[in-house]
Formats: sequence, C-alpha cells, structure tokens
Amino acid sequence: MHISIIGSGYVGLVTGACFAELGNIVTCADNDTKKISELKRGAIPIYEPGLKELIFANTRKKRLKFTTDIGGAVKSAEIIFLAVGTPALENGDADLTGIEHVARNIAINMNSYKVIVEKSTVPVETGKWVKHTIETYHKRGIKFDVASNPEFLKEGRAINDFMHPDRIVIGVESKKARDTLVNLYKPLNAPIVVTDIKSAELIKHASNSFLATKISFINALARICDKVGADITEVAMGMGLDKRIGRAFLNAGIGYGGSCFPKDLDAFITISEKLGYNFELLKAVRDINETQKDFFLEKIKEKLWILKDKTIGILGLSFKPDTDDIRNAPSIAIIEALKAEGAKIKAYDPCCMAKINKEVRKGLKFCKDAYEACRGSDCLLIVTEWDEFKELDFAKVKKLLKRPLIIDGRNVYDPQVMKKSGFNYIGIGRGKHE
Ligand code: UDX
Repeated sequence: MHISIIGSGYVGLVTGACFAELGNIVTCADNDTKKISELKRGAIPIYEPGLKELIFANTRKKRLKFTTDIGGAVKSAEIIFLAVGTPALENGDADLTGIEHVARNIAINMNSYKVIVEKSTVPVETGKWVKHTIETYHKRGIKFDVASNPEFLKEGRAINDFMHPDRIVIGVESKKARDTLVNLYKPLNAPIVVTDIKSAELIKHASNSFLATKISFINALARICDKVGADITEVAMGMGLDKRIGRAFLNAGIGYGGSCFPKDLDAFITISEKLGYNFELLKAVRDINETQKDFFLEKIKEKLWILKDKTIGILGLSFKPDTDDIRNAPSIAIIEALKAEGAKIKAYDPCCMAKINKEVRKGLKFCKDAYEACRGSDCLLIVTEWDEFKELDFAKVKKLLKRPLIIDGRNVYDPQVMKKSGFNYIGIGRGKHE
C-alpha cells in the first residue's frame, strides 16, 4: 500500500520504517527542512535500537523516502498517518495546532479517497475535529474516512513493539476504513481490536494512565516496605504472580518520566475535568510520582547529612535505559536538587550526556565511564538501570569511592550480595536488608 506519515518524530519514523519493512511504499513527511535533509543524508535524529538499519535497508529498496512536500505526500497515499507532536500546554491541555494544520493541508491536497489515521497521542474527540476540519476546508467532495490507531511503542523497544504488538487498536466509522487498516496490519498476525474512534482514543488514555497507576502504586508500597522493613521486589513478585495483576510495571524506583506518561496523564486529567469528572485517582498517581524523587533525595540526606561540598557520582541520566531521551527524566530534578544543596556532581550515562542542556550542565562534571563517576565520590547513585551498570567490577567501585555507599534508585542489585561485598547499600523499598 502507499502510505504517508506526516510528522517524522519518534512515532512517525518508527511507524514509517516498520510499514516499509512490511513491504509498503512509505513517504515520511515533515515541515522541518533540516530534519528531512538530515534523514535524506542518512542521519537519524533519534537513538532507537534497530531503527537506523531499518531506515537504511528500506530507503535502499526504495520503499521509504523523506520529503518536506506535505501536499505531495497527501496526494500519493491511500493511507495517511498523523504523527505530529502534541506537546502539553501550560494548562495541561494537549497542543493540537500541529494536528489542525495537517488536517487543513490534507483537505486542500486530497485528490482521491483516503483513510486519515490519528497515530499521535491525542485527546478523545480529536477524530471528530479532524473530520470536521477536513470537511470544512475540502472543496471537491472527495470521500474520506478518519480513523484512530493509537501507538503503544516503548522507547528502546519500539521496533519490537511495532512488529510484535500485544494488540492493534483500530477505531473506525466505516467498513471501508476498517478493511483497509485490518489489511494493512494483517502481516503482523496480532489480535486486532476494532472499535469506534472515541473508544480507540480512550484505550490509549486508559492504557497509559493504568500503567502509570501501577508504577505509582508500587512506589507508594515501597515507602511502606521501608517503614516496616519489608522488600518491595518480593512483594511485587508475590502480587505479580496473580494473573489478574501481572508482574510487569511493578518495579519500584524514582518514578516514571519520558515524553508520554507525565504528559498523557496531565492531558487525561484535564480532559476528564472538562468532561465534568474529577479524576482524583490519577491526580494521586501524579502526586506520588512527583514526591518519589523527594523520597530518594531524603535517603541521600539521611546518609550524607550535609550535602554541601560532598561529591556525588550519578550513573544514568536518561528517563529509562536504551534511549537517549531525557524528557521528564527524574535525573534532571535530582541533579538540580543536589546542586541547590551545594553538592558536587560527577555523572555518567552511556548515551545522553550530549543532550543535557547548558543550565543543568553548570556545576556538573561528565565522566568517560562509570568508574570515573565513582572516583572520589562520597556516594554513588543509580538513576537509570542501563545494563552496563549491572556488570560493574564492584571491587574496583569500592576502591574508587571515598566511602562504600550506593543508593540505588532502580533496585538493580541484590542487597545481600552488596552487603557481602562491603557496601552500605540502600534501595527503594528494601528496608528488610538495611
Ligand atoms: C510508554 C508506554 O509504555 C507506551 O506504550 C506508550 O506508547 C508510550 O509511553 P515509554 O515512555 O517509552 O512508553 O517508556 P516505558 O517503558 O513505558 O517507561 C515509562 C517510565 O516508567 C520510565 O521512566 C520507566 O523507568 C518507568 N517505569 C516503568 C518504572 O518506574 N517502573 C516500571 O515498572 C516500569
């Protein structure tokens, strides 16, 4: 099929490359000329395992191309995916300017029947507005369908999530749109949920909010574990084996970050409010997530007392491993809080140090590896659970640290092993061992 993806950000590029890999002819369009010329030169603007290879292979086979000509991309496609950014506004609303702009552009350039699919995370009822906008600005009476097909891609695992999804959600209003999209996804052999557009939009809100709720629930429980001297990882295991609960997304830590959960939760809380429902449960989820960083900082202060002039080594800056994304990364708030207390910080991340902005960089020393961050530090913090931190030489770490103190915000290590190796090891919700 001929597919155009409008918006060559994270979702657009992964979706475009994967559809091309499945044998479709894909055009990725964006009005950012710099980004498109870089993509044409083979420079991929984001770090996502496997994406570069997929883009190279499919551009070579002429199944994938990049353009700034949005009108041309509209004309050449049977299916158009909207993958433009929907950033959060100050009041928590999603900014839908980009979506509206593309909808008008589609209306002006539509030359034959198209299925126009929302892929970006958008508030419920956006489909209705996209349809209304195209109807308003389209003058030639050509038929079209709007559909919703939310993405559930995790950064760092996006290609795998696309190729092997738990489910595909398709919200449609006509049989023609349904058949087109079911056909498109057929090669993936995954369960397909076909529903109406609003229900599909709500599945996305609900899924992300529910996952965020699981994380905040386990983080709240971790605080109780610390108080009573229990171990959150054992509690999560015991809960998770109940199939109705499941073990996934029950890893306690320093809270969720990234470009999706914090923004999507804010947006859903705001939408619910507008619809006349005060979603207090989600407000509590958000509050627990915010204060989880304070909980971590308290642990540091409990051990180091005064932070002024103490050196703190930090391992991991990205909001989770296998990505260079630092959007809403807990690391940033933690660094700012430590700096405000006068601590000296040495940080190492395998991937995203170059992305840290000037303001955060001030007073921060970047290290060439994990050991360099340990050298002369009063304490080592684990902020992101990159695999390479799981295999450190702890005898070396101990020698390099000024004192053998590790405060692990991601519960990466076995407390018993760390204790035996001579560390004062503090995790999240692992009071049983402390
Ligand atoms: C998320 C959703 O998983 C995906 O379906 C959606 O389409 C986009 O948003 P992503 O933001 O890439 O994906 O990351 P995810 O792996 O879901 O993790 C989000 C955050 O939650 C990370 O900061 C991670 O560290 C944290 N997390 C996750 C926990 O703290 N504990 C867990 O058990 C799981």
